[in-house]
Amino acid sequence: MCGIVGAIADRDVVPVLIEGLKRLEYRGYDSAGIAVVDEQDVRRVRRTGRVSEMENAAIAEDFHAHLGIGHTRWATHGGVTEANAHPHISQGVALVHNGIIENHEEQRERLRELGYQFESQTDTEVIAHLIHHYLKESNDAGTGPAQGLLAAVQRAVKDLTGAYALAVVSRKEPERMVCARMGCPLLIGLGEGENFVASDVSAILQATRRVIFLEEGDTAEVTRAGVRVFDGDNVEIQREVHVSDVSLASLELGPYRHFMQKEIHEQPRALADTIEAVIDGGFSAELFGANAEAALRDIEGVQILACGTSYYAGMTARYWMEAISGLPCSVEIASEYRYRAAHANPKHLIVTISQSGETLDTMEALKYAKSLGHLHTLSVCNVPESAIPRASELVCYTRAGAEIGVASTKAFTTQLAALFQLCVVLGKLHGKVSEADEADYLEQLRFLPGSVQHALNLEPQIALWAEKFAGKQNALFLGRGLHYPIALEGALKLKEISYIHAEAYPAGELKHGPLALVDAAMPVVVIAPNDKLLEKVKSNMQEVRARGGELFVFTDQDSNFTESEGVHVIRTPRHAGVLSPIVHTIPVQLLAYHTALARGTDVDKPRNLAKSVTVE
Ligand code: G6P
Repeated sequence: MCGIVGAIADRDVVPVLIEGLKRLEYRGYDSAGIAVVDEQDVRRVRRTGRVSEMENAAIAEDFHAHLGIGHTRWATHGGVTEANAHPHISQGVALVHNGIIENHEEQRERLRELGYQFESQTDTEVIAHLIHHYLKESNDAGTGPAQGLLAAVQRAVKDLTGAYALAVVSRKEPERMVCARMGCPLLIGLGEGENFVASDVSAILQATRRVIFLEEGDTAEVTRAGVRVFDGDNVEIQREVHVSDVSLASLELGPYRHFMQKEIHEQPRALADTIEAVIDGGFSAELFGANAEAALRDIEGVQILACGTSYYAGMTARYWMEAISGLPCSVEIASEYRYRAAHANPKHLIVTISQSGETLDTMEALKYAKSLGHLHTLSVCNVPESAIPRASELVCYTRAGAEIGVASTKAFTTQLAALFQLCVVLGKLHGKVSEADEADYLEQLRFLPGSVQHALNLEPQIALWAEKFAGKQNALFLGRGLHYPIALEGALKLKEISYIHAEAYPAGELKHGPLALVDAAMPVVVIAPNDKLLEKVKSNMQEVRARGGELFVFTDQDSNFTESEGVHVIRTPRHAGVLSPIVHTIPVQLLAYHTALARGTDVDKPRNLAKSVTVE
């Protein structure tokens, strides 16, 4: 969602803050700002739009300092205006915030009565005034700076309900930054004689790899010399130092025009990395944790919970799960599940899927599932140490590397590969997968990165199709069985980045409604590999042609399609068997990417969206 970076150093921290915000910009890009503490004063620059605009203003206003905080925003409370952009200031206390304060209206009333005036519509401004209020109270009581910013933040957060990651500075204390975390990730980066705060390690990787992840309820005081962390009871505590293995290269564009393009092309490597352990050691329960076998044997079914693209990975996995492991499997959108009076079977394994590991709805759905009595939980996630895997019993990390493009690509295909592994492991443990089946699945996995590379080679042909799509207002995607979720993912990609209205249907549903939309202006994309449903899909295609609809068919070499008037065909080289949905994802990603290019949209930062959604 939004992004936070902070730094305290002997050198000028302004370039560090700006570089950090640029790295975080994919998380939220409505507006950006920094505040620095400079010779006993707080100076602030904020701009709507991109970080580069704020950077130009900071350069023009000659910003330099040894202490500062910065923020890139995705608007929740209050529109996209400079007044609503962070940092927010209350009489020398400046603060940046990720998350949502639920009781902000109640606190606003209280603070108004105390004489505070509000300049923005944000929930965040409340926190700045609260901290100032407690600082003033301790000063008035004569307890002085020893009871300063840290104590004021510790008191203020006790008044808040909701989620927050905070970084706070005060003009009266130019030697420290204070931060706090509840419900939103925040980490501290440890340098040599300089230290940092960030919501995401990518923001500070240029300065250090040594990080401390704050825990729920923690507060911390960060100076040049060191870091002190306090738990929710304000007791000083040691938190483990981790060395991040996120590579800087994964945060750079390299020869590509967009991160989305780069990430689409990284898929053969990302998949090879994600399946490496299986290729080396077979389908073992240990892929999901040292003690996973007992838990995975114990279960009687699977409930998958996720949002967005991750949900479509879950929908695909359901087909595999029931066919391969024989276990009943349901999939539900996390934001629906969390408010439903679900009837829990405690022995149904809860599988959450989240690229970021911090999507609030998915996290809350996981908590709800536990409260309903589910005994076992497993997280499929791409970000080590993020909140959802940390709250889960078992974990399978996809090894896609950092994903920056807002539209998820390599995270999706690696989630599919991880979920496929889970299905086979469960099939083995529950007596459904024989040794011969296992060898066959392993063989198919071995071919996967190569098949994906072949699909990528179709890019020039797909780019030609994209030119036709660029002028359209609507598009329909069809698929059946395992490929229906891929049709959904194709429609989602297209609408996310090209703003063309796109819908997906199981091809068999066409005649029950969407056929009414079909005419010559409606392109219909069909995912039609050579599987047992192909003949059915062909009949559905006839229904489209008979109404003058233009068909764009993704299939494979094995299926006997011919191009004809109004029927365009692109073939992947060979049918990829049970893993075909992974291979057929590539063409729909490329179609969306090239259509967006042709329409000139901002591919990596589509309007109104954000990479990870830490609000409801
Ligand atoms: C946002 C992103 C999507 C993503 C979804 C779920 O909407 O823009 O790309 O699929 O969140 O995110 P997660 O990190 O939980 O997979």
